[in-house]
Amino acid sequence: MAKKRLHIKTYGCQMNVYDSARMADILAPLGYETTEAPDDADLVILNTCHIREKAAEKVYSEVGRLRLLKEEKARSGGRMLVAVGGCVAQAQGEEMMRRAPSIDLVFGPQTYHDLPDLLGRATRDLMMTGRSRVVSVDLSTDIKFDKLPEEAAPQGVSAFLTIQEGCDKFCSFCVVPYTRGAEYSRPMADVLAEAARMVRLGTVDITLLGQNVNAYHGDNGHGGTAGLGELMRRLADIDGLERIRYTTSHPRDVDDDLIAAHRDVPQIMPFLHLPVQSGSDRILTAMNRRHTAARYRDIVARLRDARPDLALSSDFIVGYPGETDADFQATMDLVRDVRYSMAYSFKYSPRPGTPAADLDDQVPESVKSERLAILQAELLRQQEEFNAACVGRILPVLLERDGRHPGQLVGRSPYMQAVSVDAGSAQGDLRGTIHNVEIGAVLSNSLRGRLIGPATLVAAQ
Ligand code: SAH
Ligand code: SF4
Ligand code: F3S
Repeated sequence: MAKKRLHIKTYGCQMNVYDSARMADILAPLGYETTEAPDDADLVILNTCHIREKAAEKVYSEVGRLRLLKEEKARSGGRMLVAVGGCVAQAQGEEMMRRAPSIDLVFGPQTYHDLPDLLGRATRDLMMTGRSRVVSVDLSTDIKFDKLPEEAAPQGVSAFLTIQEGCDKFCSFCVVPYTRGAEYSRPMADVLAEAARMVRLGTVDITLLGQNVNAYHGDNGHGGTAGLGELMRRLADIDGLERIRYTTSHPRDVDDDLIAAHRDVPQIMPFLHLPVQSGSDRILTAMNRRHTAARYRDIVARLRDARPDLALSSDFIVGYPGETDADFQATMDLVRDVRYSMAYSFKYSPRPGTPAADLDDQVPESVKSERLAILQAELLRQQEEFNAACVGRILPVLLERDGRHPGQLVGRSPYMQAVSVDAGSAQGDLRGTIHNVEIGAVLSNSLRGRLIGPATLVAAQ
């Protein structure tokens, strides 16, 4: 079979990263090999994100750049197909073709298992009419997973595994329920089998993914469903799976069993991304988050009770329509009370089709910027404080890859901090293993440490 070159560019969240890897698996049997650069590729896939405005605009500028490569390739007698997948594709469908006629194929997050067929149709249309307009944006989530092939290649020492898709929460600012469809959990047996295969191929650290990962309620094989806590207990039985993480969770779906799992299962890393968005109850209600700031504080307290060294991260939105100075202060109060080891924060971005976009009390851009700067300064201060407190501690670090300097390895602490060490001539032997590292210094985006020796499973407390 003739070899073909495939370039996939991934935007947005980890679910898109997982989906891109699966697209490569699906296309491998057709002769596609992935390449780092789009130049000269036979197929370019942009796996897009629609969460904030700039994300979609970036896609259109990328398509513009690809058009030039496509024309160049056509002049030399070749053909480059340009396909747009992911959440912008889902949201805009046909509209994308109108706005950027150089796109040959538009497909959504729930139809990529059909890529071989869709590409066949696009190629036929191109040969017959010189133009392809194939659009596939069906949102029925439950069929994709059954049709995906097993992973074709090792997924890496650390890898993602999607266990849940879609969202039924409909937060008033968010496009995800419209781009990913209704909530769906994969059966527990499928997840366990996929994880075991990944571990056999060398993965030791798995991050379970879902837009609402702790709403997971997969078929347990006995006529009932299993929650995320139970799933992780079962995953922890897989020999060789040393680290388990999950993202993104919703405060509403943190149940007692999940909290208990943090206490009982040492493989669950003491780092949790638990978005709160705002510290003001008025704004949380308007956002349709369906929890209060007090409930969030209570969940955090119970989690920390179960796992005292738990580090937290979050997402925040500033300038949601109607947000007053007092609302913003409530967010700042919550941040100061909870203390985060890192966090993401965004200015509210009105998304077409979501309820909040039509509200008339939109917050001026200048106020959003001002609040974002204040929030980010505090979050950065907390991150620096957390990192500084790690100096002198011994942390187990999963040494994932080579660093920039000879003999250097870079890995992750249990708290997701990047840590670099000098492994010297042992670099090759230690790559992919978990070693204890004494943290010596905080650099701008990472920690530096000294190798102590092999780590036991349980993270240093
Ligand atoms: N499922 C996750 C979040 C997925 S989207 C959850 O429930 O928290 C990732 C983050 O993007 C959100 O947590 C939110 O902080 C941010 N976000 C989503 N829509 C946004 C919008 N319209 N404007 C600004 N930020 C947004
Ligand atoms: Fe979006 Fe809310 Fe669903 Fe998260 S829970 S994906 S923020 S609608
Ligand atoms: Fe973006 Fe879609 Fe993920 S909108 S954040 S790629 S679910």
